Amino acid sequence: MKILVIGNGGREHALLWKLRQDAPDADLFVTRGNGGTAGLATPVPLDPGDAPALAVWAEQRRVDLTVVGPEGPLAEGIVDVFNRHGLHAFGPTRAAAAIEASKAFAKNLMRRAGVPTAGYETFDDLASAEHYIQSHPVPMVVKASGLAAGKGAVVCETHDDALAAARSMLGAGTFGAAGQRVVIEEFMHGEELSVFALTDGHDVLLLPTAQDHKRLGEGDTGPNTGGMGAYAPVSIVDDALLDRVRRRILLPTLAALREEKRPFRGLLYAGLMLTEEGPKVVEYNARFGDPETQAVLPLVASSLLEPLLAIARGERLPRGAALELRQACALTTVLAAGGYPGSFERGHALSIPETLGEATAGAAGDVAADTLVFHAGTRREADGRLVTSGGRVLAVTGVGATLAEAAERSRAGARAIVFRDRYFRSDIGWRELERHAGAP
Ligand code: AMP
Ligand code: GLY
Repeated sequence: MKILVIGNGGREHALLWKLRQDAPDADLFVTRGNGGTAGLATPVPLDPGDAPALAVWAEQRRVDLTVVGPEGPLAEGIVDVFNRHGLHAFGPTRAAAAIEASKAFAKNLMRRAGVPTAGYETFDDLASAEHYIQSHPVPMVVKASGLAAGKGAVVCETHDDALAAARSMLGAGTFGAAGQRVVIEEFMHGEELSVFALTDGHDVLLLPTAQDHKRLGEGDTGPNTGGMGAYAPVSIVDDALLDRVRRRILLPTLAALREEKRPFRGLLYAGLMLTEEGPKVVEYNARFGDPETQAVLPLVASSLLEPLLAIARGERLPRGAALELRQACALTTVLAAGGYPGSFERGHALSIPETLGEATAGAAGDVAADTLVFHAGTRREADGRLVTSGGRVLAVTGVGATLAEAAERSRAGARAIVFRDRYFRSDIGWRELERHAGAP
């Protein structure tokens, strides 16, 4: 079997690591790759965004399955291109990926389908947005409708902040085309929860629940990032809550997409707020989360490849199917380059201690490994040296019987890896750890 993974970050490294376990004899390929994927997959010298060339490449090599990691290629229609070549690709079509690529589309769909989400209005012109802001209570959230790498939502405590955010998006053109339409919505109070649903367009197969930490600073302060860490599973989620999310949120959303002739096959990621009135959707993504995937996949005991393949082939998931999960906890700490999510330097030497190296996801592929180092922004130089090459550099996942154990492993791993201006949060999972500490 030949499998191609599109993308080259930590999420894609984690997908390759899991696929390698599921299919030890498969030929794995990855677009470009990074400093950690070399032992797992053969790099393909094509960009994740170059769908036509990738489809030709995959057709020539008779690739059986392509798994698309990032949202950009999905939004541009890479799955449509692969399908036209008769290739099986895991991920939604361009039309279905609009659930992430256009927040305005997602909100309108949810409104029509009666899916709980924050009250909102969408705007293309600044004057109407300003009028709306002045006549609604704060806090409120101003969002660029298009893709903005997780940085397009501004939580505004004052009307002045909201006006400034709207002006920068609709007036000054921050976020470019993505900000030419904005969604302004009511602020929701509560804890956030990420639910990952593998879906054939009708039914869902749920992965362990996760929480990520989007803010740069400890205590969840500072600017939004792509994600500074995550943990799984989340203990406040019980079967009743998950069932409610399935029946009132996921299934009605999938039904609405089918009615719109945009059936969604792939991974539907529901970012939820657990409010006093129940779970409400903050946003939908059309792909695996990063860094949540690095925390969630080590907890999946059964094959991920099987459902990915079935969904990519357009088959229905077996009724009542469920993934087999490990009874363990996982916690992921992201090591970032100093300055991220603003400007940062690349090319700094990176050293990963041998002790961690042995458990490196890229090398052993050992499920039992309790510390896994997933590479994101790293590159191997011609002379073999590992250097930084991105904002989020590595994700270190600790796995343990308890979350405290997982946290200790993740943080010890993070501390042991050195590069210039390295930055990471030492408090990933703090809410859950406080809950565990408070439990009898
Ligand atoms: P988004 O890009 O829509 O996922 O928003 C990024 C982050 O902003 C979310 O993960 C939340 O932390 C916060 N956020 C977005 N919308 C809301 C909302 N309506 N109420 C409260 N927080 C929000
Ligand atoms: N960690 C948030 C995301 O992947 O969108």
